Amino acid sequence: MDTRAAEFGANRDAMLEKLAEIDAEHAKAVAGGGEKYVERHRKRGKLLARERIELLLDQDSPFLELSPLAAWGTDYRVGASLVTGIGVVEGVECLISASDPTVKGGASNPWTTKKSFRAADIAAQNRLPTINLVESGGADLPTQKEIFIPGGRIFRDITRASAAGCPTVALVFGNSTAGGAYLPGMSDYVVMVKERAKVFLGGPPLVKMATGEESDDESLGGAEMHARTSGLADYLAVDEADAIRLGRNIIKRLNWTKQGPTPKPDYDEPLYDAEDLLGIVPTDLKVPFDPREVIARVVDGSDFDEFKPLYGSSLVTGWASIHGYPVGVLANAQGVLFGEESQKAAQFIQLANQIDTPLVFLHNTTGYMVGKEYEQSGIIKHGAMMINAVSNSKVPHLSVLMGASYGAGHYGMCGRAYDPRFLFAWPSAKSAVMGPAQLAGVLSIVARAAAESRGQEYNEEHDKAMRAMVEGQIEAESMPMFLSGMLYDDGIIDPRDTRTVLGLSLSAIHNGPVKGAEGFGVFRM
Ligand code: COA
Repeated sequence: MDTRAAEFGANRDAMLEKLAEIDAEHAKAVAGGGEKYVERHRKRGKLLARERIELLLDQDSPFLELSPLAAWGTDYRVGASLVTGIGVVEGVECLISASDPTVKGGASNPWTTKKSFRAADIAAQNRLPTINLVESGGADLPTQKEIFIPGGRIFRDITRASAAGCPTVALVFGNSTAGGAYLPGMSDYVVMVKERAKVFLGGPPLVKMATGEESDDESLGGAEMHARTSGLADYLAVDEADAIRLGRNIIKRLNWTKQGPTPKPDYDEPLYDAEDLLGIVPTDLKVPFDPREVIARVVDGSDFDEFKPLYGSSLVTGWASIHGYPVGVLANAQGVLFGEESQKAAQFIQLANQIDTPLVFLHNTTGYMVGKEYEQSGIIKHGAMMINAVSNSKVPHLSVLMGASYGAGHYGMCGRAYDPRFLFAWPSAKSAVMGPAQLAGVLSIVARAAAESRGQEYNEEHDKAMRAMVEGQIEAESMPMFLSGMLYDDGIIDPRDTRTVLGLSLSAIHNGPVKGAEGFGVFRM
């Protein structure tokens, strides 16, 4: 790749512009409920959600934040009043979830709930202990109909994690009322902060209404009461920092061991500069790019052993390692998946399962090839082979959306519905059932044919306006911020961070066993 070419510079500028836009959205999530509420929170002598996390983590260790743009494009605050991610506590990778009390008192809206579900799935699939930093007004009452019934899963997941041998810890910094009381209620270990934690099924006004009893916060649900009388609190913390210290101590005593194979201790950094990743993806996704340029900047020592390089060349497959963890890589090259690519993918996925090796999918596909020749040569069967392989594969999958991820190609490349352990998007990614122009064109052809069959004249002016409107809508809905807001990915990452993010993900994944499938569905031949 020529990093001095004008094209490279233009791609890089466009990528930097998109990164700046995404940074601005991340900043909104970090700002929580805004200055007024942050100020009030601090005046109460409390730490912000992110500060609590920072103190909890081992010094200078990274935090892989998940779904930071959840709720983007909705009526709710970006970030969905919750911070989730994976961080290292006493040397143990933990799933950390912290409510943000500066946003509507930390109450859970429908997006908060979805974000919690995703975090719980990640903890369960990767066998991670969970630490909940609790200070929340419980259900967002105006949207209760959307969260009350599905939201029960949060408490179920905590106890199922415990049953599966993944310890759960609740550090309670403030309010944890009503349903929220089951956050500590279901956890294996509970720490409460003196004079701050309030954990009750019903507060004083509700109790008064229900039974006529006069009470106060402290006797109903204070930390001292729970530590000395009810026994719900296992540890009484004198302040927030003490709660964090106690939380770290709990993790230290878990005697945690990872079940996956350990990475190779010494590996080389890539030979090519990660900076170059900014200039690889063309601004027009119709222009293909060579994913080997990406692989060379992500894998150890830029050492990639390509499998079947001469066959099905619009999908690159091969073996490499990332931070010492062996991986198989599948990366789209020319955008379209043909029969050969699909069969190659199906074979490669089986090989990875045979040797218990995780797979990394690098997306840039417009989907499976259409047309008479391809239908007659069995493109559906071949695509189905690939989708069968990816669906029944049991080794961990990681997906990175670099560019296009359209149509069934998104499925075959292990899109969200195919349960990759983690799915991250570059700012250049776009995902939809098909490209905006194609989708608008299809609608136009269908509408034209329908008008003809009714014997009506087709209104060309109307068609033009419809196409423009649909194209605009699909373009907006295909953008990574929109998809991230919907929690269809685990976050938008800077392309330069790809190696680090994949390394952190692989390390988290190896908390659980890494074992390939022993059987697949029936492959259509
Ligand atoms: N649903 C929707 N909005 C909520 C909420 C909830 N459960 N809890 C708090 N909010 C809103 C408040 O209305 C307020 O909104 P505003 O700033 O736009 O006026 C904002 O969040 C901050 O609340 P406030 O009471 O000023 O904050 P606080 O830090 O002093 O107290 C709580 C926080 C959580 C202790 C308190 O708001 C509370 O008791 N909420 C209700 C808790 C409850 O009973 N939940 C039922 C759970 S099933």
